[in-house]
Amino acid sequence: LPDGLARTPPMGFNNWNSTGCAIDEKMIRDTADLFVSTGLKAAGYEYVNVDDCWAAERRDAGGRLTHHPVRFPSGIKALADYVHSKGLKFGIYTSAGTQTCAKTMPGSLDHEETDARTFAEWGVDYLKYDNCNNQNRPALERYTKMRDALRATGRPILYSICEWGQNKPWEWGRDVGHLWRTTGDINDSWQSMLGLFKANAPLARYAGPGHWNDPDMLEVGNGGMTDTEYRSHFSLWSVMAAPLLIGTDLRKATPGTLDILADREVIAVDQDPLGVQATVVRSANGHWVLAKPLANGDLAVALFNETEQSAAIATTAAELGLPKRSGYAIRDLWQKNTSHTAGAIGATLPAHATALFRITPGGDWWQAPPAASLTLDLPA
Ligand code: DGJ
Repeated sequence: LPDGLARTPPMGFNNWNSTGCAIDEKMIRDTADLFVSTGLKAAGYEYVNVDDCWAAERRDAGGRLTHHPVRFPSGIKALADYVHSKGLKFGIYTSAGTQTCAKTMPGSLDHEETDARTFAEWGVDYLKYDNCNNQNRPALERYTKMRDALRATGRPILYSICEWGQNKPWEWGRDVGHLWRTTGDINDSWQSMLGLFKANAPLARYAGPGHWNDPDMLEVGNGGMTDTEYRSHFSLWSVMAAPLLIGTDLRKATPGTLDILADREVIAVDQDPLGVQATVVRSANGHWVLAKPLANGDLAVALFNETEQSAAIATTAAELGLPKRSGYAIRDLWQKNTSHTAGAIGATLPAHATALFRITPGGDWWQAPPAASLTLDLPA
């Protein structure tokens, strides 16, 4: 949506991948606290979002959604206030159907105005709108109705279309929401992450500021992949300008998990203000080269080894379409070192690993001799 929200992909947390329905208000408060204390807030994470199962089974006497009495005893308004008190934003969930997917709470189909108003009154900043129990009504109609209801509240609410890519939301989502799921659900496995990457990567041309492809939330830290695989997951999501929604219980996160999630240089690729999703420059035999142009003229390049064997993956400045220069600086965003090249760019990668580079086209400044003369100003 061209309304000023989500000019870069949303960053935050959602409980679903780690808890499913077993959510409670304490986890949300703890997550808000941890965003501050671990530095994740400072690294750019902003939205603390609740997924399915937050509401009571029935609407209240006024026809409004109301909090689940056991999981959220203090109510949603108090929770949103708490998240806001930490300088963060609060997100919630419902479905464009008669019930949500877990079927433990009502959905918002035909209750769009009431529910949007309730959310706005509570101080909700983000709505994820799911697709279950939709009565086979057209997606465009259902998602547009909620867009209009949210708009009518006057509160800026980031709007996430969770339609799973079934009706090609990338073709109509730009005017309806700020992001749209392009796939079914992720799970905490290499095969799942890889499948979603392959489905989302070809959709690069549909993404841009205010309208993003969403290959689903992060599984980093949940235990089903190695840290090498999680770095690939995070690298690929970042070059694809995907939303970075942490999906692990931060109370149990290892230092390794936090290092991945909080990496400022990788996050800067995802959050680059140019807002271009990487395109696939080349892929053959499970060896991938992806490139994402950045606002300052740099290029982010991911070399991704999908295979079970280590592999040398190489490209060149010419193949990447970089402007012709006599040299380029290469920053390795995970290894944290900078080197220089006349044009060859490559890495030897273990199975399932990704190298992520930031390439700066230079003149020949890096190989120039030191300045011809130095004037020393010595005291008399
Ligand atoms: C399906 C969505 O795709 C998931 O992300 C999650 O929100 C579940 N529904 C909740 O039931």
